[in-house]
Amino acid sequence: MTADASNGVLAEASGLSASYGGPVVLEDVAFQVEPGMRIGVLGPNGGGKSTLFRVLLGELPLSRGEVAVKARCGVVPQTERSRLDYPVSALDVALMGTLSRLPWWKRPGRDERRRALEALEVVGLGELANDQFGELSGGQRQRVLVARALVQDARLLLLDEPFSGLDKQSAARLSSLLRDLATEGRGILISTHDIEQARRWDLVLCLNRRQIAFGKPAETLTRAVIEATYGGEIVVVEGGDSGSVTAVLPPHHHEES
Ligand SMILES: Nc1ncnc2c1ncn2[C@@H]1O[C@H](COP(=O)(O)OP(=O)(O)O)[C@@H](O)[C@H]1O
Ligand SMILES: [Mg+2]
Repeated sequence: MTADASNGVLAEASGLSASYGGPVVLEDVAFQVEPGMRIGVLGPNGGGKSTLFRVLLGELPLSRGEVAVKARCGVVPQTERSRLDYPVSALDVALMGTLSRLPWWKRPGRDERRRALEALEVVGLGELANDQFGELSGGQRQRVLVARALVQDARLLLLDEPFSGLDKQSAARLSSLLRDLATEGRGILISTHDIEQARRWDLVLCLNRRQIAFGKPAETLTRAVIEATYGGEIVVVEGGDSGSVTAVLPPHHHEES
């Protein structure tokens, strides 16, 4: 049994601050990720969502506080879509997930190909294994990247705005895939601009250069927390069945003087 297979916390942070060498861009972050949790990471552009992921991946040292990542991480980065814009198949991309576990002198072999194919089947793309990654739809590409993370045997998934640019149907597929992966005991951090979507997940972590709140969506996503998280970039429309509907305005939409 590996350390990964324990039932405990998959990752935790306390008093975490981070900077890129200059001013602190993220501070006072404290949260825990337990198996089975889908955690929405909310915040405006520049709020620190991607920075938090970099810290969890060990790509960026923290300037204060503590962070412990106890499970293997799989990541779906925000920028990968363009970086993988060269001719490789969906299977090739999923196979990349096996590389980190092979000794440097070994190339992926039959075993690795089998595991990569299985992962593509899990995300519903077994049939498209030989298609060019660059020619898949945005939603299919996101799911290939999730497959790559699964091939890494990751119990902690970090998905940086995986729903951006997806049509409704692709978003629904990815969403139900994430539910299944959580049910299997993975912990999943998902940064998103969609507050209403995050209400359906287990926890939310609200960031605006510092942590605004962390907790269950129903208790946490109060109007005050949403305003502190998004600054002036929100409108709250009162009424409707659920009480209120919140929309985040795009960053260029500023009407206040
Ligand atoms: N490579 C970098 N070097 C310096 N500053 C950066 C770098 N990446 C991000 N930042 C700054 O860190 C802050 C948080 O950015 P980021 O984590 O990318 O926010 P988000 O993902 O929520 O949009 C921003 O002020 C951004 O300008
Ligand atoms: Mg980002």
